[in-house]
Amino acid sequence: MSLQELDPAAIEAAARALEAGQLVAFPTETVYGLGADAENPAAVAAIYAAKGRPQDHPVIVHLAPEAEMAHWACDIPPEAHALANAFWPGPLTMILKRAPNIPDAVSGGQDTVGLRCPSHPVAIALLRAFKGGQGGVAAPSANKFGHVSPTLAEHVRDEFGADGSVAMVLDGGASQVGIESTIVDLSRLATHGPVLLRPGHVSAEAIAAVIDQLPAAPDVAAPRASGTLESHYAPHTPVAMQDTVTLVQTLGQMEEAGRKLALIHYSDLWTAHAAIRLPATPEGFAHALYAALRAMDGQGADLILVEAPPQDGAWLGVNDRLRRAAHGSTGIVHGLLNRDAGV
Ligand code: TXA
Ligand code: MG
Repeated sequence: MSLQELDPAAIEAAARALEAGQLVAFPTETVYGLGADAENPAAVAAIYAAKGRPQDHPVIVHLAPEAEMAHWACDIPPEAHALANAFWPGPLTMILKRAPNIPDAVSGGQDTVGLRCPSHPVAIALLRAFKGGQGGVAAPSANKFGHVSPTLAEHVRDEFGADGSVAMVLDGGASQVGIESTIVDLSRLATHGPVLLRPGHVSAEAIAAVIDQLPAAPDVAAPRASGTLESHYAPHTPVAMQDTVTLVQTLGQMEEAGRKLALIHYSDLWTAHAAIRLPATPEGFAHALYAALRAMDGQGADLILVEAPPQDGAWLGVNDRLRRAAHGSTGIVHGLLNRDAGV
């Protein structure tokens, strides 16, 4: 826990900054968020400008544990209350029909709204201090559009430090979960059932255990989510994933070819290249993944090579993020091995 977590003055200052329409970055248990008053369209527009994000992408509204869901959403099905009881505060976002009084800026013009009550103590303290606990803080991940989400305050400062767009960065230490919240769409429950828009720490099976219905994969008419774009969560250095056996061969070949690799792995293997070994559990791997991608991005390597995790369900969230980070890198390993080695 950091000092600011225990610092009510910093929380109060951040709440006043949000009320004044400024942007405040804050820790959550998943990743750091870039927050603004969800009911102030100009403040929400400032998030889009700071991130370089298209205006038609909706953002998640973060609520205090005591906040009224009915202020934000309408036609709330009993399943939404059941899921809130089971998983809030925590890493689950629900998409519901947006209440008529809520500005459409937070949902990029869609008739829905994404709601989540985070469990990080700093986030909860901030949400309670902001507008007496009855406000909503619109917050996407605190990174430039398409880039890796931040899991440390330092990552947020690296993203926005220089441009003055962010009034304050609250420091709450390392985000425990490490990948973004699970998103389940309940806005079309009656016609389509629940739909899993983004996998995360709260699994489809855990959701099914509460509402007796397994969330389906998104159909074409499902609400749009930028975290579901093919290319997302990407460092600047190309990323490729390989199974353990192939990867060990590639390491040797790249060394011979004079290529510089940065390796992210979980098996016990040795290499002369820059490497970070992550825990071999889905939770441990997710917790450390984004910091590892950022660290390896700073190595000046030709490629970040990631040991592909197992394909089983517990790794779904991690595999989803890695697949998007690696999107567009097909052929890169081949290309690096076939061209003449650099100087
Ligand atoms: O863990 C998280 O969810 C983090 C922390 C800060 O809470 N936030 C986060 O926000 O990941 P962002 O904006 O990077 O991703 C939110 C995702 C996007 O894919 C967005 O399109 C989707 O949620 N989303 C938000 N509201 C939506 C809506 N009304 N309909 C469909 N998708 C929505
Ligand atoms: Mg994001």
